[in-house]
Amino acid sequence: MKKLADFQLRSQAAYQEAYRYSVDNPTEFWAEIAATFQWQQPWKNVLKHDWTTPSTEWFVEGKLNITENCLDRHVAEHPDKEALIWEPNDPNDTVQRYTYKSLLEAVSRFANGLKSQGIKKGDRVCIYMPMVPELTIAVLACARIGAVHSVVFAGFSSAALAARINDAGCVLLVTADGAFRGDKKIPLKSIADEAIAQCDTIKKCIVFQRTFQTVEWNNRKDIWWHDFIDGLSDKCAPTLMDAEDPLFILYTSGSTGKPKGMVHSCGGYMVYTAYTFMNVFQYQPEDIYWCTADIGWITGHSYMVYGPLACGATSVHFEGVPSYPKWNRFWEICEKHKVTQFYTAPTAIRSLAKHPTKLIEDYDLSSLKVLGSVGEPINDEAWNWYNTNIGKEIVPIVDTWWQTETGGVLISSLAGVTPQKPTYATQPLPGIQVALLDQNGKPIIEKEAEGILTINYPWPGIARTIYGDHQRYKEVYFSAYNGRYFPGDGALRDKEGNYRITGRVDDVVIVSGHNLGTAPIENALNEHPAVVESAVVGYPHSIKGNALMAYVILYDSTEVVPSLVDEIRATVASQIGPIAKPDRVLFVSGLPKTRSGKIMRRILRKLAAGENDQLGDISTLLNPAVVEEIIQSLSKE
Ligand code: PRX
Repeated sequence: MKKLADFQLRSQAAYQEAYRYSVDNPTEFWAEIAATFQWQQPWKNVLKHDWTTPSTEWFVEGKLNITENCLDRHVAEHPDKEALIWEPNDPNDTVQRYTYKSLLEAVSRFANGLKSQGIKKGDRVCIYMPMVPELTIAVLACARIGAVHSVVFAGFSSAALAARINDAGCVLLVTADGAFRGDKKIPLKSIADEAIAQCDTIKKCIVFQRTFQTVEWNNRKDIWWHDFIDGLSDKCAPTLMDAEDPLFILYTSGSTGKPKGMVHSCGGYMVYTAYTFMNVFQYQPEDIYWCTADIGWITGHSYMVYGPLACGATSVHFEGVPSYPKWNRFWEICEKHKVTQFYTAPTAIRSLAKHPTKLIEDYDLSSLKVLGSVGEPINDEAWNWYNTNIGKEIVPIVDTWWQTETGGVLISSLAGVTPQKPTYATQPLPGIQVALLDQNGKPIIEKEAEGILTINYPWPGIARTIYGDHQRYKEVYFSAYNGRYFPGDGALRDKEGNYRITGRVDDVVIVSGHNLGTAPIENALNEHPAVVESAVVGYPHSIKGNALMAYVILYDSTEVVPSLVDEIRATVASQIGPIAKPDRVLFVSGLPKTRSGKIMRRILRKLAAGENDQLGDISTLLNPAVVEEIIQSLSKE
């Protein structure tokens, strides 16, 4: 029987052959890969799909449990291999290591705890935790018993947490007393308490003790993590899941105020994350792989938890930030754990590049074999810095383009195997059929072109729906271009067929790699009692990639006190989280609008970027004078 490793593409010719086969025989292609996993019952059909409904089902009626594939399988083969190396926020604290065996035991114990609280298959469990091993344990424990996890990034506010808990109807929350982030301590439990006060569905709150800070305690609801697992067995039989049963919900922003709970499946997601992890990073069994993301994002789900574990890999998980205690921390960790694959975001690269290279030169980075980038387009300067200073011009860089919705990487080079090209994600992975469309939705035949990126054919990792709102799923992703998946990004294609992602074509802005819809931020701004209306746009920023500018109309513009900007920004932080705070706030008397009343964000974007000479024809606006007024205000900013 073939193993997953037999599907590792080790040459450009092998990639080309696999790609061709995946297009000519997509179901055979994926069935052969899926057969290397542990299934409790074989599937009846490889794929059933109809992108008009839209519906996508992979490995139909196959039964499995993803944790058997991520844990038990490897325990049988190499119980003492390290699955997880946890590097704490403070370098003087102790590193924790979990072998596949000890991780399975910890997962099983927590899963038994969940069962003892009556949590069962299909129940939604919200996880709001710092980057500690217990976060991974809680995630996998849910998967063990078929509960659907909904991880909410620990930087979100209580209002954002409450909205996500309520949307999914979560019955249990797992959190911590607090979180360490550099020299800061974040009071997670008190934020969670505020959230739960607005959520009727939460029955219990499990609290992991991390910072040992004082917390409010509700005897009826709260249970310490250590009490919760005390005396429980470290064996827990995996619950049998259908390939199409939901594995998790993960929220992402969209063009309207409400976040979208993307639902991922058990079977297809597993196959896709494992296959792409193994190939993009050219993973080898002895590797020490480190992704610097947080498990609160899709990168953490797919390439810190499920993908690497399904491949039996050893991963480093880091609790802290690149700047603490000093800006050398990433390199210190690479040297300390002899990291072979290092996967981070352009925003982190740009921040690191602002500091002296001396901070790198002190460390031996010779273990590195692959560098990765994810989350936003990587600009030339950042790519070159990464290549020169970290990769020493010999380590391949994979620029991986994908989304929360896609489950795993869709476009990327395979490290050291297929050609890389600075600032280009390069070519689609096997199984991914890309089409570039023009403004009228027609496929562009010429190789060298710029257009709207779409995917023509399903792949196993695609999110199956938006939780509780299939209609929105259809509208956002499948209605713009009939029969094609529309990711919301534009792209450029060179004559070799390499893709360079040019950015969003909708009202989503990627700030420091975080996907932020402008509509929810505007809703938050409008919550401030002084604000009548607002418009938020992105503009280029040297470190964050994009930053946010808010144009704000006040009820009474004579009442602008100096603290108002801070207050308004604080409103956004409390409604969504600090990551969504606008960098610039400009008070205006009006917003440029079309005659039908639509805000002309294109003009606001140009103004924020200082491109006043590229505004185009503004004479057709309802209120052209307002543009001149904004230009005047900006010149005084
Ligand atoms: O615009 C693209 C950008 O990030 C968006 C997806 O954001 P999110 O769902 O938060 O997932 C981020 C991690 C996978 C995409 O629509 N994006 C992501 N990776 C790249 C990128 N843009 C350019 N190049 C990339 N490598």
